[in-house]
Amino acid sequence: MSEELNREIAKRRTFAIISHPDAGKTTLTEKLLLFGGAIHVAGAVKSNKIKKTATSDWMEIEKQRGISVATSVMGFNYGDYKINILDTPGHQDFAEDTFRTLTAVDSVIIVVDVAKGVETQTRRLMEVCRMRNTPVIIFVNKLDREGRDPFDILDELEQELQISVRPLSWPINIGAKFKGVYNIYEQGLDLFTPSKQTISERVEIEDVNSPLVDELVGETDAAKLREDLELIDGVYPEFDEQQYLEGKVAPVFFGSALNTFGVKELLDCFVKIAPAPKPIEAVERTVNPQEEGFSGFVFKIHANMDPNHRSCIAFVKICSGKFERNVNYRHVRSDKMMRFAAPTAFMAQKKNIVDEAYPGDIVGIPDTGNFKIGDTLTSGELLHFKGLPSFSPEMFKYIENADPMKAKQLEKGIRQLMDEGVAQMFTNQFNGRKIIGTVGQLQFEVIQYRLLHEYGAQCRWEPISLYKACWVESDDEAALAAFKKRKHQFMATDKEGRDVFLADSNYVLQMARADNPKVNFHFASEF
Ligand code: G4P
Repeated sequence: MSEELNREIAKRRTFAIISHPDAGKTTLTEKLLLFGGAIHVAGAVKSNKIKKTATSDWMEIEKQRGISVATSVMGFNYGDYKINILDTPGHQDFAEDTFRTLTAVDSVIIVVDVAKGVETQTRRLMEVCRMRNTPVIIFVNKLDREGRDPFDILDELEQELQISVRPLSWPINIGAKFKGVYNIYEQGLDLFTPSKQTISERVEIEDVNSPLVDELVGETDAAKLREDLELIDGVYPEFDEQQYLEGKVAPVFFGSALNTFGVKELLDCFVKIAPAPKPIEAVERTVNPQEEGFSGFVFKIHANMDPNHRSCIAFVKICSGKFERNVNYRHVRSDKMMRFAAPTAFMAQKKNIVDEAYPGDIVGIPDTGNFKIGDTLTSGELLHFKGLPSFSPEMFKYIENADPMKAKQLEKGIRQLMDEGVAQMFTNQFNGRKIIGTVGQLQFEVIQYRLLHEYGAQCRWEPISLYKACWVESDDEAALAAFKKRKHQFMATDKEGRDVFLADSNYVLQMARADNPKVNFHFASEF
């Protein structure tokens, strides 16, 4: 184990911010970049508009729709730490790759709007975090606006996200009367001044019973704060870092991203407690980041970033060892050696060519179609990383060719878009028709648009009434064969040729499960 490698790994914090649209993810990201010196003036990148800068504005459709379809990466240094934020599109019509991005992070920060509480998108993303025991920190945002009682919010977080919570800061009033937060983690009082430009003032206090607190926030609010803190201590066990790292308890911070309030406290706690890159499971064995041999996997492919050059960028998460430019690595699926002359890192909102990268970092590799999602690169070892499942889509349409002259282009376009992970394709075994499954309506529009603009092909959507597609398998071959025969009209294969059952209602699915106890039904492609 080299010391340099160990040091670099210990510095890395790779995470994603997840939230329901409008909770303040973009604003918080902007403020974090501000603290990292990645942008210079607060408000220089207007909140919301960050999505429209070169960082993630790679696709024409994003410009058109003004929403971030892409997942981009932002790296910056903060003190001794190297921070990588992986952006996840918050739009409700988000794609599979939002889920998949979560497989490339070591922890997440969840942003919740204090008035709205936990919303659908957050709940769905949290399910993926729970599957993987990803450590979670929660930031309750918009305390400068009227909102719900913080104790109610905590209850809702526990219930809706199914995780224990532990407040590490506590608000003094809310909305027009908001005076600041008491930092439980570091024992201090942060006084609120509504301003987008200045950073809050921290008053160190030894103890919440200090008369200074009464002086600063007034006797009534000081008394309420003491009462609240006592209640918190009575109800919530003391914060246990180990439990956080195991994904069992989520520390909660309160603040206002727009006013840069509570953000530094969040960041300071985050760098201290959030995990550095962890060991990752490969099919063959567990891979430790500290190993000398390089390994990494492709978790996202972004095609045709520049419409003038038909190029893709494969986003590779480094799992172990040191990645170096112009060194030969093994592309395990094709069993070819490859070296990369122009790998890019994403620092301070810019793409730069890098000579080296370490576990936790993401490098972008220009690609002309060699990579697929989930591909592994290594120094030579045969490794396949696990944990890049496809999830059961929730919306389905038949895809048909609308321009018979362009059948080849359509086929190629569909294949590449599916490899990129935009959506999933199933082939119905009964009628041979191709079904596209997505997790959001927007994906159909994205596919249609990109097929036309990038491949010159036209598609038409036809409705199909489906509830869910799930992967089926069994140890009992006869039982599986009998099931497939009985359901032959509803059987399909995915792009790897695995059996998929298309259930047209929840009832049908429940019945199928009850009637076929020997057949296993899976809702993610990895089982
Ligand atoms: P998102 O990425 O999660 O979708 O949310 P985003 O940061 O874009 O924030 C959504 C809206 O909420 C923005 O207002 C933003 O200014 C506002 N906001 C974020 N944090 C706070 C906060 O702490 N307090 C208050 N009061 N508002 C906050 P907008 O009007 O939609 O956009 P803009 O015109 O301000 O850019």
